[in-house]
Amino acid sequence: MKREITNNVYYVGVNDNTTTLFERLWPLPYGVSYNAYLIKDKINVLIDTVEYSYNDIFFSQIEEIIGNEKIDYVVVNHMEPDHSSSLLKLIEKYPDIQIIGNIKTLGMLSGFYGITKNVKEVKDGETLNIGEKTLTFHLTPMVHWPETMMTYINGDGVLFSGDAFGTFGAVGEDVMDEAADMTIFTDEMYRYYSNIVGKYGGPVEKAIEKLSSLPINYICSTHGPVWKKYVPQIVEQYLKMARYQGDEGVVIAYGSMYGHTADVAKNIYDAVVEAGIKNVVMHDLSEVDASYVLRDVFKYNTLILGSPTYNAELFPKVADLCVKLEGRMIKNKNFACFGSFSWAGAAVKRLTAFAEGMKWQIIEPKIEIKQAGLDVDVKALSKQLAENIKAVVSC
Ligand code: FEO
Repeated sequence: MKREITNNVYYVGVNDNTTTLFERLWPLPYGVSYNAYLIKDKINVLIDTVEYSYNDIFFSQIEEIIGNEKIDYVVVNHMEPDHSSSLLKLIEKYPDIQIIGNIKTLGMLSGFYGITKNVKEVKDGETLNIGEKTLTFHLTPMVHWPETMMTYINGDGVLFSGDAFGTFGAVGEDVMDEAADMTIFTDEMYRYYSNIVGKYGGPVEKAIEKLSSLPINYICSTHGPVWKKYVPQIVEQYLKMARYQGDEGVVIAYGSMYGHTADVAKNIYDAVVEAGIKNVVMHDLSEVDASYVLRDVFKYNTLILGSPTYNAELFPKVADLCVKLEGRMIKNKNFACFGSFSWAGAAVKRLTAFAEGMKWQIIEPKIEIKQAGLDVDVKALSKQLAENIKAVVSC
């Protein structure tokens, strides 16, 4: 594996191609990497660790680089256990190591691992000279936990960004982005961000603004490739996601028990494509994991949600998606809805209330069918809806 990123900064992370669900929730079709980095200088500094099951590989990689030399400091940019659960093993191997974090990190070190000794608190903007290089610590709370911070090597322009700019997907033998398949990573970055960090758009945007004056040559995140060639594009993508700015496009997501709501969805899909809207994707929520729907909701600016009425409520798969969308406090969406019922309609009413709660722009008409909807001209209503959407999405 190519380890040196630049000027005595090394990649010592690992790939996880075994775990099927990240956080026991989100599918990992391309795996995931837990990235850690080693800075070799007069004082050797490790940036983060890796998930506990992979610490044998992690330590052997470190030894390949520094042999029997000691590690003086480990900087903990983020305490979530996918990055911190090797800390106790690290202390066992390097008993004199000092752990660097901010005041919130220190509380979590104690709470998660009982670690209270050899810890060094740093404040926002504080620097640490390690020989040739000087590190600056930037506190970036809630990207993605309260203690999250970033570490920057002055001069080299290397930013260790924690989860920010991260993505699902294992890295290749060459961890640099030039070697990465960006068709996969661009999409997986949307999925990672929307699934994991999506609620914290405000703090992410604030962090990007805070660091905007730093010259950045490399972004070393905790997940995914090391960004060098694509730094501007990745920062731009993160800014867009943080601001909930979707591209022109429509996501149609629906539940359907016996195919009637699905028929409406297909009519709407055809009408929206016919109207010439650029990106149109459709998801049957009984067939697809919500992870992918969230990805597309962040990617595009319009969501059309459909549901049958089920026990006088939304179909459970639709209700579950609504909870996930609410949980991420997604802003700036155009919204339309459709639904069906057998004897008393509730779904469209519920979907409308949901969108009002989200403060999204609701586009008419709402299409609601009773039973098979034989008395409703779904095609004509879909055409009207598609035209109204077209007028809004491409603005
Ligand atoms: Fe990859 Fe928030 O941890």
